[in-house]
Formats: sequence, structure tokens, C-alpha cells
Amino acid sequence: MTEVIDGDAVAADVRDSLGDAIETLKREGVTPGLATVLMSDDPASETYVSMKQRDCEEVGIDGVHVELDTDAPAADLYDAIEDLNADDDVHGVLVQSPLVEQVDSREAFRTVAPEKDVDCFHPENVGRMVAGHERFKPCTPHGIQKLFEHYDVETEGAEAVVVGRSMIVGKPMANLLIQKSDLGNATTTVCHSRTGDLAAHTREADIVVAAAGVPEFIDGSMLKEGATVVDVGINRVDADTEKGYELIGDVEYESAKDVAGKITPVPGGVGPMTRAMLLWNTVKAASEQTGVDVEMP
Ligand code: GUN
Repeated sequence: MTEVIDGDAVAADVRDSLGDAIETLKREGVTPGLATVLMSDDPASETYVSMKQRDCEEVGIDGVHVELDTDAPAADLYDAIEDLNADDDVHGVLVQSPLVEQVDSREAFRTVAPEKDVDCFHPENVGRMVAGHERFKPCTPHGIQKLFEHYDVETEGAEAVVVGRSMIVGKPMANLLIQKSDLGNATTTVCHSRTGDLAAHTREADIVVAAAGVPEFIDGSMLKEGATVVDVGINRVDADTEKGYELIGDVEYESAKDVAGKITPVPGGVGPMTRAMLLWNTVKAASEQTGVDVEMP
């Protein structure tokens, strides 16, 4: 029987488990604060940012939202980030990607103070993570690790294939999988758009993390019987629905679910975990910046 991994349920657990830490901070006069920064008119980004703000409200984190005109100069964005860096009520700063073309994304991510970089995009934090003494873990790979924990997915000694090499998912996921840690120790291969024979790799994998942003490009014939399949794709595809689109993963769910041992659906798999781990990182950031000790779940 294939086990469908319920990201909504695990994310709700993570949010609940943050309750004690948030209460402890508040008792000491600290309300964790997260700023989201949007400089884009991409409808998906607008949706993600408003969901992140709603999540904050639900768990008792103060949300601040800063929106810049899409034709403003890049310097306005960097200035807005500097203002948030200097604001003691803001413990986490998230600059929603992708950004408008006049902005150098790397410069934007480098401008976020490393201790407030809850995305883990700043080179200092990326370096620390790769070196194995992380300040933060990036939200999506961290969320996937939480799913592995919850569903007893053994990474130690497993053959893992990460499909995609983005800074947000592919590269950090592969890095966490090879760490000498309870949720690491996997023999990890990273495949990407120039991989010659993708299926030859995925068919050998005990764990497949699909994060290439191409709708349904991994199907059941490319998987090993019993594999754990994690679908990070959230592709908007035109459809005859109320919204005019539907969300499709990178994995063809119908054929994959008959082969996989465990599989994440889209939606309701990885997406809610990414949002939950952003809250987690914000609570950790608030604790570290204020010196109020909390137990992170
Ligand atoms: N765009 C898509 N995913 C993310 C994310 O996790 N963080 C940010 N900042 N932008 C994104």
C-alpha cells in the first residue's frame, strides 16, 4: 500500500509545536516579527506572500508586509531591506523571489542581515549550512526533512536523487541529505536539465526529490518500487476551473503512486511544510536576536 504523505497535517503539527516557544518569547516581552517584501506583480508570488502573512497571524507572529512599485529603482528595495534590518521588532526578513528584472537578486539577498535571513539565502548562511553548522535551514528542504522524520523515511545509507539544482531547493536539499546527521547520510545524486539519462538515475533511487519546475516530468516508469517520492513542483497550468488554472506537481501522481512506497501530493504535500518552516525559522531568529532561550521543537 502506498502511503500518501500528509503535508497539511504535519505542518499543522509544526505550527502547534511552536506554540510553547512563542508563548515563552511573549512572556519575556518579545513578539516574533516577520517582514515579507514583494517587488513583483507575479500573481503566484502575491498569493504566497499573503498566505505567509496569514500563517503569521494564526500563530501569533507579527507580520509586516512591504510592497515596492515594480518600476521603482533597485536601490529602493535595498533601502527597504536595510530599514527592516534596523527594526528591532522584525526578526525575519523574506524577500519574495522572483524579483523584477532591474534588481540583482543576489544583491537583494545579500542585503538581508544574516541573522534575519529566514530563507537562508545569504551567502554566509548558505556557507554555514554547507559546512554543517547552520544558523537556519532553508524552508523547503527543512520541511522535507520534517516529513522524513514524521513518516520514518530512513535517509542513512539510502540512494537519494534530487532533480533540480536551484538555490532554493535542489542545492540545499542535496547538501542536507549528505550531512553527517540523523536526517542525512544519504548517497546523493543531483540531476538537472543537462542530465543525459534521468530515468537511469531515478530508477535506482530509494528517495526522489523532484524540484525542477517542469509539470509531471517524472512518471511511475522512472521510479523504483517502494521509493519515497517528494514532489516539490507547484506548476500553474491553464485549466477549466474557477481560477482558470490548476496546480500540477513535477511528478505524474497517478502513475507514480502505484509504484512509490510513500508519496507527497500536490497540493497538500511540501507546500504547507515550506510555510510552516518559515514560522519555525522566524521563532528561532527572534530567540537568538533577543537572547530569550526557547526550546525549538
Ligand atoms: N519564491 C519561491 N519560493 C520561495 C521561498 O521559499 N522564498 C522566497 N523568498 N521566495 C520564494
